Amino acid sequence: MLVNASEMLKNARKGQYAVGAININNLEWTKAILQTAQEMNSPIILGVSAGAAKYMGGFKTVVALVGAMVEDLKITVPVATHLDHGTYEDCLACIEAGFTSVMFDGSHLPIEENITKTKEIVKLAHDKGVSVEAEVGSIGGEEDGVIGAGEIADAEECRKITETGIDFLAAGIGNIHGVYPDNWKGLDFDALSAINDATGGIPLVLHGGTGIPEDMVKRSISLGVSKINVNTELQLVFAAATRGYVEEGKDKQGKGYDPRKLLAPGVEAMKATVRAKIELFGSKDKA
Ligand code: 13P
Repeated sequence: MLVNASEMLKNARKGQYAVGAININNLEWTKAILQTAQEMNSPIILGVSAGAAKYMGGFKTVVALVGAMVEDLKITVPVATHLDHGTYEDCLACIEAGFTSVMFDGSHLPIEENITKTKEIVKLAHDKGVSVEAEVGSIGGEEDGVIGAGEIADAEECRKITETGIDFLAAGIGNIHGVYPDNWKGLDFDALSAINDATGGIPLVLHGGTGIPEDMVKRSISLGVSKINVNTELQLVFAAATRGYVEEGKDKQGKGYDPRKLLAPGVEAMKATVRAKIELFGSKDKA
């Protein structure tokens, strides 16, 4: 069932669990995530970056793929199609194309401009029943081979942006995208606690879910995190499983070159990862 992400995250926040926002790249990703969410009776958010959407053909292709698959596979759990880290223009295009949720990432802008633009997106999105995520304090990660440390969001800025009417908020607390470097300092729970106190109970979002230790995940959920983004981890397990298949020479046995066979171990590995995330985040049977 396609829905926006507002209600499911309010419920998550109330129920002290988090909903996984898992990035999709193609049909295999989409199907593996949807089937696993259905099997676990869990709400799910499909994260779609502008780059991934472009790879798949465009925002309309994503909307058509997810919409048709939800129908064909009889997916009854709540599913949101969510633009991940969108520009202002990406948000407009996704609202138009039929996404049920968008993230406007103005974290690199001066805070006043971030607030003004977020407010505009909120108005346009809410008119169409689309939920909105904003970001304060940019999430670090690898850029041109350099891994930037995650910024710590300012609680007062978080309070201000929440007043724009957004549905959920991503705030940097030392989290970064991709694999965490060995010298990573961990999440800043004092900062998360201050942000949680300043933002009146709005569901908070933790980006960079790949590689965050389980105890930190659980502690962040207890401090208001209701949506956890995971991307890299699925890519890693898919690549490893596919490599194993090829290295064992299975693509050269019989019709092992058939993409339905070649990609199957990767799909199974992604399903196992999604299953583990749903268990860890506590959203099993919360559909
Ligand atoms: P990872 O790739 O580190 O899991 O981060 C995903 C993310 O935050 C997408 O917005």
